[in-house]
Amino acid sequence: MASHVTLSEAETEAVAEALARAFRGGEVVLLSGELGSGKTVFVRGLARGVEADPEEVASPTFVLLTSYPGRLTLHHADLYRIGKPGEDRDLGLEELPGPDGVLAVEWSERLSWLPWPEPLRVLLEHAGEGRRRVTIERAEA
Ligand SMILES: Nc1ncnc2c1ncn2[C@@H]1O[C@H](COP(=O)(O)OP(=O)(O)O)[C@@H](O)[C@H]1O
Ligand SMILES: [Mg+2]
Repeated sequence: MASHVTLSEAETEAVAEALARAFRGGEVVLLSGELGSGKTVFVRGLARGVEADPEEVASPTFVLLTSYPGRLTLHHADLYRIGKPGEDRDLGLEELPGPDGVLAVEWSERLSWLPWPEPLRVLLEHAGEGRRRVTIERAEA
């Protein structure tokens, strides 16, 4: 387990970028943490680490799943607006990320199942003005 306290948005992005630089495809990152804790910021850093365009990464309004091309394709799911429980199953996430992709899931606590054997878990927490605690751990699904 690794835990960092970041002092800015840029630092949180840098932690994610460093993590994703080592990705070789097939990695799954399950993000949790309350609204505004920095999940989308973290995904922007993952985009940098897989050489996808970080500017493309946004909080999707209606779309629950977006993919960004890069050295690896970054698939970004955000389950904040998921409707009825189990709706995540309609997204086909179990087919992702594939050997040349990476999957990041915001609001992963809303997943109704975990089809991946060894996802990474990333927890973001407020730790004072402009600060966030970023905890990364490898978990059994
Ligand atoms: N240390 C930090 N790390 C990440 N974001 C931070 C930090 N300090 C302040 N922020 C701000 O917190 C907000 C996080 O937003 P966002 O990533 O969209 O949250 P979430 O996706 O978890 O709802 C941004 O406005 C960002 O500028
Ligand atoms: Mg978000």
